Amino acid sequence: MRWRGTWLLNHGREIHERFQQCYEAARCPALRFDGVDFWVDPGEPIVQDISFEVWPRKTLIILGASGAGKSTILRLALGLIRPTRGSVWVGDFEISRMKERDLIELRQHMGLVFQEGALFDSLTLEENVVFPLVERLRLPFRQAQEKAREVLRWVGLDGHEHKLPAELSGGMRRRAGIARALVTEPSIMLYDEPTAGLDPITARTIIDLIVKLRDVRGVTSVVVTHQMNDAFRIAETQWVRSNGAWALVERTPDETVGDVQFMLLNVGRIVFYGSALDMRVSAHPYVQAFLGGRVVEEAVRR
Ligand SMILES: Nc1ncnc2c1ncn2[C@@H]1O[C@H](COP(=O)(O)OP(=O)(O)OP(=O)(O)O)[C@@H](O)[C@H]1O
Ligand SMILES: [Mg+2]
Repeated sequence: MRWRGTWLLNHGREIHERFQQCYEAARCPALRFDGVDFWVDPGEPIVQDISFEVWPRKTLIILGASGAGKSTILRLALGLIRPTRGSVWVGDFEISRMKERDLIELRQHMGLVFQEGALFDSLTLEENVVFPLVERLRLPFRQAQEKAREVLRWVGLDGHEHKLPAELSGGMRRRAGIARALVTEPSIMLYDEPTAGLDPITARTIIDLIVKLRDVRGVTSVVVTHQMNDAFRIAETQWVRSNGAWALVERTPDETVGDVQFMLLNVGRIVFYGSALDMRVSAHPYVQAFLGGRVVEEAVRR
C-alpha cells in the first residue's frame, strides 16, 4: 500500500508545518485548556473547570498537594486521556478531538519527563536516549547515537553513556529522563515533579537545567511541583548571554510578570492562577497555607 504510506508521510508533514508556523510566530498559545473537566466515575470529578494558556517560550508552574490533579493535567495536555467536558489545544490543534494517528505526530513536539524517570532498566543510558529517535523518528542508528551523545553532554551526563539506570544516582536518572524527552527537540516540555525525592543541591541542578532549556533553547515549559523553593527559582532565575557566554542571573518577581504563570490546584480545581508576584502577595487562605508549607500531603477539602 505504497500510496497510503506516502499519504501518511505528507499528512504528518502538514501537521508539523502547521504547528511550527503557529508556534514560531507565537500566533497561538503553545498549550491551552478551555473549561476542562475530567471525570472517571459520575459524581467524582478529578479535575474541574480548568482553563489556562501557556504562550510559546513561556512557563507554567502547576502547584498542588498530592492527589490535586497535577499529573492528570499533563496527561490531558498530551492527549493520553480526553476531557469529559471542555477542550485542550496544542498550537491551533484541538487535540481533544484529534484522531490518535494525528496526535502521535503532534506529540513529537512535546516531551514528557515522568514523575519517576521511567527509564528502561535493561538498556544503557545511551540506548535509553537513542530509543525515541530510532523508534519514533526512524533515524539511522549512527545518527541517533550522535544526537543522543550531544544531548547527554548537554545535561551533564557525558562519560556515563554505558551505565545501566540502576548504576545511576537519583539526580542522574532524572537528568537522563530529561535527556530522553529532549532528544527529539520538542517545543514544549512537560515536567512531572522533576525534583521529587532529590536533595536540595541536586534539585537545584535540575531546576537550573529546566531554566537553561527554556532560556537557551526557547522551550515552552510546564512544570509540576509541590516544592515552593523550586517553583520560585524557576520563575526568578534566568540564563542570559553576556560577553559571548551564558550566565545564570536572578530577577525580581515583578520582572517575571508575563513570563511565568503559577497555577495552584486544590482537589481538582484552580484556586490561584497568576504571576509569581501575585502569588507572593495573595491573601487567599489556601495560597497562604501552601506558601507557608503547611499543605504538603493532605488536600484541604473545600
Ligand atoms: N484514570 C483514573 N481513574 C481513577 N482515578 C484517577 C485516575 N487518574 C487519576 N485519578 C485520581 O485523581 C486524583 C488526582 O490524581 P493525579 O495523579 O492527577 O494527582 P497529582 O496531583 O499528580 O498527585 P501526586 O502529587 O501525588 O503525583 C487522585 O485521587 C487519583 O487517584
Ligand atoms: Mg502526580
